Amino acid sequence: MSTEIEKNKYVFPKDFWWGSASSATQMEGFSGADGKGQNIWDYWYEAEPNRFYQGIGPDNTSLFYTKFVEDILLMKETGHNSFRFSISWSRMFPKGRGEVNQKAIDFYNTIINTLLENEIEPFVNLYHFDMPMAMQEEGGWESRSVVDAYVEYASTCFENFGDRVMKWFTHNEPIVPVECGYLYGHHYPALCDFEKAVQVAFHSVLASAKAIKAYHDKELGGKIGIILNVTPSYPRSNHPADLAAAEKADLLFNRSFLDPSVKGTFPEKLIDMLREENFLPKYEAEDLDIIRENTVDLLGINYYQPRRVKAKENMPNPNAPFMPERYFDHYDMPGKKVNPYRGWEIYEKGVYDILKNIQENYGNIECFISENGMGVESEERFKDANGMIQDDYRITFYEDHLKWIHKALNEGANVKGYHVWTFMDNWSWLNSYKNRYGLISVDLQNDYKRTIKKSGYWFKKLVESNGF
Ligand code: NOJ
Repeated sequence: MSTEIEKNKYVFPKDFWWGSASSATQMEGFSGADGKGQNIWDYWYEAEPNRFYQGIGPDNTSLFYTKFVEDILLMKETGHNSFRFSISWSRMFPKGRGEVNQKAIDFYNTIINTLLENEIEPFVNLYHFDMPMAMQEEGGWESRSVVDAYVEYASTCFENFGDRVMKWFTHNEPIVPVECGYLYGHHYPALCDFEKAVQVAFHSVLASAKAIKAYHDKELGGKIGIILNVTPSYPRSNHPADLAAAEKADLLFNRSFLDPSVKGTFPEKLIDMLREENFLPKYEAEDLDIIRENTVDLLGINYYQPRRVKAKENMPNPNAPFMPERYFDHYDMPGKKVNPYRGWEIYEKGVYDILKNIQENYGNIECFISENGMGVESEERFKDANGMIQDDYRITFYEDHLKWIHKALNEGANVKGYHVWTFMDNWSWLNSYKNRYGLISVDLQNDYKRTIKKSGYWFKKLVESNGF
């Protein structure tokens, strides 16, 4: 037995991508500076600040915009060999299309170059919940003209940064704006309208395919994919009614993006469901060809917790507005393991089930875990006398997930890396800084001071040993 294997029980392949993920709105700050236009978050905060936890909005967040050199050095210090960030559409195009903001190009060029100088590969995502307000006024993803504006934004990014960025992603969790913006009223425009939600989802898929085409046409030599929160949908029991309910949830929330992104087609059963309810989206004949011909090279998978589903116990009022919950009930499984500091279920095997599903049903496409993490409320309670957060719970969480990823790898899953959410504590949609997720803490009361948490040092060791 080699000493390496003796030391590390879980050894990962050479060149495994170790890093973390982030997004522009959640960490940049300076949302009104250097020519950046408003996005829906800036607008909403200005209009209704009380919606946001403790009234903290997206204007400052973690100040990556000015502290990025320090931050990239901290990435290096914590062992990162890759880092995902998003480009703010409204920083690049203050009005969503048309005139490009040169200061944004300069900023992202500097970020990319500084990462590369520190041997950290930039993974760049284009859309992370941050619709420019001018585009939302045109209808956001409901509108075809916004799809074209997005492709213009994507192409401009490829042209300016594609010589150095070799991993691109069209969207992060595109089902989230559908659910939160158009079904459950959590994100702007806070509607509950299934018909619009379907249109938004269709246009997001179309936009992704068009951006993939634009990228491939430019022959820049890298790869382009999409990042999906594939949420395993587990039935309460093997009873056929529970199985059918879980399948419907899977079709609506996972396969609606997974199938077109990887296979180029929508599941027949999903189309039938929507047709029955008279909710098929509006589209043009060539859209389906574009989606079929422009699938992803690479898939990012975000995993936090599964969805537990049971058959409907009471049929909904047929006159109530249509919701996906017409097909299933959420199931609160007794005895499930829960993160005591946030309330979300912890089910580590879920990550293995996703990877096996991709291996068996999606051609074993190249993929990586693009987000996994544990949010903790009031995390300062775990600070030691030196100001370091002793987050042993997070280390356990990561190791327990990595064991399942390792098992999937050994069984042939084509998984190339693991990115945690997130690098440093950052602002979250509506919850602001309530739940902390970082490998590094950020002290909002003390000039946003960064301090590496215990998990940050653990991460460094993990990467150095390429396992644990
Ligand atoms: C997924 C999203 O990509 C990110 O924006 C969010 O903050 C994390 N999950 C944590 O909930």
